[in-house]
Amino acid sequence: MFKFTRCLIAADHGGLDLKQRLIPFLQQQNLEVLDCGPDAYDGDDDFPDYAARLSEKLLALDDQSFGVLICGSGLGMSIAANKIDGIRAALCTDATMARLARQHSNANVVCLGARIIGEVCAQDIVTHFLQAAFEGGRHQRRLDLIKDLEG
Ligand code: RB5
Repeated sequence: MFKFTRCLIAADHGGLDLKQRLIPFLQQQNLEVLDCGPDAYDGDDDFPDYAARLSEKLLALDDQSFGVLICGSGLGMSIAANKIDGIRAALCTDATMARLARQHSNANVVCLGARIIGEVCAQDIVTHFLQAAFEGGRHQRRLDLIKDLEG
């Protein structure tokens, strides 16, 4: 049984197509999916707006929820989301990063670069993110030190 039962997902124009293709896959994993937009292609979305929208909704929910943020590289989304207290966003380009994002970093958001990885790799990343559990212990100590940096 997975820790997560609900997935929030958002993108910018660079990630919209991958978002639309990932949603059915997430639903097949028995996740409740909350689509935080965009609904249509704009061509000039500002990814920080979507990172903030998803993050605020995520923090208002329980810890059985996680987020998926997709832009062209995944970099902008991860930088923006990590500005928000309580968000631990991990840019992942393969399954190992996804597993470690959960085991060591207790990530609650996974960021994907639609111009970097393909759909099958994105599915693989989400699958490993879902299957891995936070290991606590020394990793919690390090996360507490990061929390201190948030001031
Ligand atoms: C948008 O063109 C692009 O900059 C954005 O999707 C993302 O890659 C930023 O990190």
